[in-house]
Amino acid sequence: MYKKDFPILAQSITYLDSAATTQKPKVLLNQTNTFYKKDYANVHRGTCALANQATTLYEEARQKVADFIGAESKNIVFTKGATEAINLVASGYAQMLKEGDEVLVSIAEHHANFVPWQQACIKSGATFKVFNILPDGRFDMNDFKKKISPKTRVVAVGHISNVLGVVNPIKEIVELAHKVGAKVLLDAAQSISHLPISVKDLDVDYLAFSGHKVYGPTGIGVLYGKTEDLNELPPYQFGGDMIDEVKVEGTTFALAPSKFEAGTPPITQAIGLGISLDYIKKIGLEKIQKHEKALMKSLIKGLKEIPNIQFLGDPKHKTALVSFNIAGIHPNDLGFILAKENICVRIGHHCAMPLHTYFKMAASMRVSFGLYNTKQDVQNFLNAFHKAIGFFK
Ligand code: ALA
Repeated sequence: MYKKDFPILAQSITYLDSAATTQKPKVLLNQTNTFYKKDYANVHRGTCALANQATTLYEEARQKVADFIGAESKNIVFTKGATEAINLVASGYAQMLKEGDEVLVSIAEHHANFVPWQQACIKSGATFKVFNILPDGRFDMNDFKKKISPKTRVVAVGHISNVLGVVNPIKEIVELAHKVGAKVLLDAAQSISHLPISVKDLDVDYLAFSGHKVYGPTGIGVLYGKTEDLNELPPYQFGGDMIDEVKVEGTTFALAPSKFEAGTPPITQAIGLGISLDYIKKIGLEKIQKHEKALMKSLIKGLKEIPNIQFLGDPKHKTALVSFNIAGIHPNDLGFILAKENICVRIGHHCAMPLHTYFKMAASMRVSFGLYNTKQDVQNFLNAFHKAIGFFK
């Protein structure tokens, strides 16, 4: 129904890899072109009309992001992506944690929300702790409760795992974390394009996502942080636009968000993200969710009919993505045949090696949906998948 809004999808491809990156709507392509043709200049620096207009559009984009997640614009930091947003927070904590402190992450985390915390613990002498998931892929609340303690300073958790597609119980996690005085960083990279999010309602301390996974450009990401947390965090990078006063004797820094936006920011990309969020808002996330749920239902039905299918987690808990294997056939081999049929899916450990180790699998195949997918895409995939399995039998 929305495929026509995405010029790239006019080609004969079946794109089922939106968890890796989403395609871009025509409105984003056109308005980006217009911005470069009519309004482009650096932000926060010039006095000419172009500079003023670019600054206005950039700050309007920040407001659009804030509105999209129920925040205020002063709490929105533009970064290069979700990975940079998490690294920004974790590198700050590497300076603030001390021996005896603990950081708690889930075994299901994407490497972007796992490795930065592991490194922050190595640097600071804090303890890196990992809690499990249940075999059906859901959050293991008992293990979480066993591992969280007054020593926990940070809980870093994904909203939706990029392998499992399960929605985690964030409000309950946040409540437990706050009871022991820990902060919660929510990795919303996989949920931002599928679920309505309110940071106020979830009460998370930090939230990170990438523009390119929500129909926006690459090179732009978002870090939301509560005011007191952003004030507490040390700057991540140093340079222009993040200072208050620079003297030979020393430098004082601007308040957030400027404190974390050193140098010329990704101006066009931030404005582009705002355009993409407008596009999604116009359709409505509830409508998108309903559409993707129907696609998921028909995909799971088709997959369940295939002998020897092994799902990572119970398929009944999936949102917009599903990962699986066929016993005895390497997913790379199946992927090779799918690629010949112009089917785009992801194969590998999906940057979640600890999770694949937990499932005793080296790799899996992942199908993920965006709002532009259709029942025909599901059918194309299933036809090609049957063909691929037949080839290796
Ligand atoms: N993190 C992206 C994925 O899961 C790239 O595919």
